[in-house]
Amino acid sequence: LGPINLGLLGLGTVGSGVVRLLEQNKAIITQKLGQPLNIKRILVRDLNRPRQVAVDPALLTTDPETILGDPDIPIIVEVMGGTGTAREYILQALSRGKSVVTANKDLLALYGKELFDAADAHGADLLFEASVGGGIPIIRPLKECLAGNRIRQVMGIINGTTNYILTKMSREGRDFNDVLKEAQSLGYAEADPTSDIEGDDAARKMAILASIAFGTRITYPEVYREGIGRLSSHDINYARDMGYAVKLLGIAREDEDGIEVRVHPALVPLNHPLASVSDVFNAIFVEGDAVGETMFYGRGAGSLPTASAVVGDIIEGARNLQHHDRGRISCTCFYDKPLKPIGA
Ligand code: NDP
Ligand code: HSE
Repeated sequence: LGPINLGLLGLGTVGSGVVRLLEQNKAIITQKLGQPLNIKRILVRDLNRPRQVAVDPALLTTDPETILGDPDIPIIVEVMGGTGTAREYILQALSRGKSVVTANKDLLALYGKELFDAADAHGADLLFEASVGGGIPIIRPLKECLAGNRIRQVMGIINGTTNYILTKMSREGRDFNDVLKEAQSLGYAEADPTSDIEGDDAARKMAILASIAFGTRITYPEVYREGIGRLSSHDINYARDMGYAVKLLGIAREDEDGIEVRVHPALVPLNHPLASVSDVFNAIFVEGDAVGETMFYGRGAGSLPTASAVVGDIIEGARNLQHHDRGRISCTCFYDKPLKPIGA
C-alpha cells in the first residue's frame, strides 16, 4: 500500500516533535498501520526561520491552499495554535472531508460545538488527545473507557508551565520570572505565557474535560479561573512550613445542584499524591461511580510528549480511513444536555 499523506499546519515546538517522532518510529508505525505515513507539506509563517528539526525546505509553504486544497492529503495536523486562522483552516479541511488532528485547546474550548458539528456534517474525524495533559492519554480514556460511568469529579494539575514554576520556586527558591523564561525555552509555555500564568490555559482544558465528563457543552468563559501571578515565594514557603504544597488545580464536579468548573491555586497537603507531582508533570484524577478513583499521570507539555499524543491521533485517524470508520470518535463527546449553572 502507498503512503498516507499528512499536511502539517505549524512547525514549532509540537510540529517539530511530530516530525521527529514520525521519523524516529517510522518502522514501528508503518508496521502497525500496514502503510507508511508521509509528511507532504508543512505550513509555516516564515520560510527562513531556523527550525528545531531538519526538514526538506521544499516541504515548507506559506500558502495554506497547497495543503488544504490537495486531494492527496487526507489528514491535516493543526499544531499552529490560535483561534483565528487555525479555526478557518480546520473548518476548511473538515468541509473537504479531511480528518483533522489538533492540539489546540484554545480553539476547542471556545468553538468546540462549531468544529464538532462540522466534523459530524462531513463524516470526518476531529481528534484532539494532545489538547489536554500533553502526552497523558486522557481524552480517549474519559470518552471511551470510562463511558459506562457517571463521572462525579475530574480534578488535577493540568498546566505544565505553572507546575514547573511552582516546583522550582518551592524547591530551589528560584525567582518567578527566571523560571518562567526557562519554561518558555523548554517549549512548555504558550505563545503568550499569560495564558498559563493566569489560569486561562488550565480553564480551557477543564472546559474540554468537563464537557466530555458530564456530557454537556462548557466553554472556556464559563470556567472560574484564578492564576498564580499574585503568588510570592513567601506564600509558597509559608504554605510548605504549614505542611502544604501550593498547586494550580482544575476542578470539575457534578452533583445534584449542578456542575461547577474552576481553576485556582490550592493548598495541597504534602502527603497527598498531587503534592509530589513536580516540574512539567501533570496528574488528573477522574472519579466515576463504577470505577472509583483513577489517576492519569505524565508529562503535561513539551515537544516529544505532546507529539506522542498527536501521532497517536494521526495513527487513529489513519486507521479510521483504512476502515472507512470516520466521524465516530470525533463527534461522540458533546451531547445535547442543557448546561447547568456553574458556581464559582
Ligand atoms: P509554536 O509557537 O512553537 O509553533 C507554532 C507554529 O505554527 C510555528 O511553526 C509557526 O510558524 C506556525 N504558525 C503560527 N501561526 C501561523 C499562521 N498564521 N500561518 C502559518 N503558520 C503559522 O507553538 P507550539 O508548537 O508550542 O504549540 C502549537 C499548538 O499546540 C498550540 O495550540 C498549543 O496550545 C498546543 N500545545 C502545545 C504544547 C506545548 O507543550 N508546547 C502542548 C500541548 C498543546 P513559524 O515557525 O514560521 O513562526
Ligand atoms: N502551556 C501548556 C502547559 C502546554 O504548560 O501545560 C501544554 O498544553
